[in-house]
Amino acid sequence: MTDPLLAWRDRFPILEHSTYLISHSLGAMPAAVETHLAEYAEIWKTRGIRAWAEGWWDMPITAGNRLATIIDAPEGSVVMHQNVSVIQGLVASALAFEAPRNRVVYTSMNFPTVMYVWEAQRRRGAEIVTVPSPDGVGVPTEDLLAAIDERTLIVPISHVLFQTGYQQDARAVIARAHEVGALVLLDCYQSTGIVPFSVRDLDVDMVCGGSVKWLCGGPGAGYLYCKPELRDRLQPMLTGWMAHAAPFAFETGEQRYAEDATRLLHGSPAVPALYAARAGHEIIAEIGVAAIRAKSLAQTTRFLERAAERGYGTSSPSDPERRGGTVTLQVDHAPAVVKALADREILVDCRPDVGLRISPHFYTRDDELDLCLDAIDEILASGAWEPHAAGTAAY
Ligand SMILES: Cc1ncc(COP(=O)(O)O)c(C=O)c1O
Repeated sequence: MTDPLLAWRDRFPILEHSTYLISHSLGAMPAAVETHLAEYAEIWKTRGIRAWAEGWWDMPITAGNRLATIIDAPEGSVVMHQNVSVIQGLVASALAFEAPRNRVVYTSMNFPTVMYVWEAQRRRGAEIVTVPSPDGVGVPTEDLLAAIDERTLIVPISHVLFQTGYQQDARAVIARAHEVGALVLLDCYQSTGIVPFSVRDLDVDMVCGGSVKWLCGGPGAGYLYCKPELRDRLQPMLTGWMAHAAPFAFETGEQRYAEDATRLLHGSPAVPALYAARAGHEIIAEIGVAAIRAKSLAQTTRFLERAAERGYGTSSPSDPERRGGTVTLQVDHAPAVVKALADREILVDCRPDVGLRISPHFYTRDDELDLCLDAIDEILASGAWEPHAAGTAAY
């Protein structure tokens, strides 16, 4: 039986000439991005200043609404920002770190940008608690739960870890945090679009991520969901006129926060990025993440089995429940192997300690994964990696 998701392949031009196994880093570009960027140029060219009133000003919400359907958030509860770092900084700026509730709890496998933002909050009284990973694969749920107590203000953790694809037990973490009165900001960059979840069902306080990876939406289109009853209490210090109750009144003095999700914005939005992100969001919403996940699990399971037969180790979880969309492969000379694979139009990447990161997405054929394994065997056996040995990883 042919895989119905393969019908989407012709919407992604790069798939015609490359084996694209790197959607955990940069999803393939939908052809419709060109059309939407041309629309952006057209409206600016022909409508000039009126473009703001004809869609641009509202784009952080209208684009957020497309994203909201993917994560099952209520309409009007998701705002678009440039990236996760800005979002984390904005959320941190809305909190007061007053002992005894001044702890920020996360894991040693958080994406580093998130750590940089929260570490800087030490200057404002934050105490950082980092729960270590014993095996470099993930962090045991019980360790994370034990670190969360009445001193915890917020738990800003990754849902799926970028290194290994390990999926943290978000439900258990959220339940524990709420039991002790703490907030959870779940970084779903590595889960949205590949692992189905519902913000309502999880009862999570805040979710953030970007569109670059599984959402095939390109850079500059980060998103923040905040539970409405929490949002209405937040007063971020990182703010601006878009977050004002009446931005075009140009009131001077203190911020008067808007009474909807726009209170979590700041200045003018990254309009072209939001045009670019539209096609990816629409495609993922139309296919549905449940169907994408079913295919992803079948392909990652098959890939790990075949890799094991060839003697490759992995730091990705063998339990499918704990796996995101990425599988890792421990190979020697990983950065050089990545480049030798790129010479063969097979696109993957690598990260320290875990080796190669390889990701099928809804547009991947099974034989492309076999092709990748064959190419790795050949590159290692022939020494084709050697000319690349001196370089460093480029992406
Ligand atoms: C889990 C996770 N969080 C955050 C980021 C990036 O953060 P930013 O949007 O600030 O570049 C990445 C990858 O680039 C990621 O994998």
